[in-house]
Amino acid sequence: MRVAVGADHGGFPLKADIVELLKKLGHEVTDVGAHEYDAADDYPDFALAAAKAVASGNADRAVILCGSGVGASVAANKVRGVRAAVCHDLYSAAQGVEHDDMNALCLGARIIEGELALALVTAFMGAKFSGEERHARRLKKVLDEEAG
Ligand code: RB5
Repeated sequence: MRVAVGADHGGFPLKADIVELLKKLGHEVTDVGAHEYDAADDYPDFALAAAKAVASGNADRAVILCGSGVGASVAANKVRGVRAAVCHDLYSAAQGVEHDDMNALCLGARIIEGELALALVTAFMGAKFSGEERHARRLKKVLDEEAG
């Protein structure tokens, strides 16, 4: 899959390991930055860039990092077509895709340690939307609301 990865200074310490993992798993990575640590950078710049890569069709999924994962998800969910969530447990990282068609995983690098982050990304990338009627029906309600 094509995956956009973005991180502000809060998420920056985890980003390189996640990019490496995604490549090892056979995915094509677009790193939307930050490309160097800058304590004054702003999470929306990277969250929106990663989310827009998904919305435009240039990426299939995004992994977005900030300190808590919260700002990243709040920003990413403003982009039409993006379904982002903070998932710090393996069940949600996979089930969010299977049931809710989540296409952006947000992680808080100040909350979780590296091994868990890699396991979460692996679970997220390995999951597929179920397509089951009840999941499709619920997703359609979300999409209808988004369409206005
Ligand atoms: C940056 O200091 C921090 O506020 C940001 O990374 C994130 O945690 C916001 O949700």
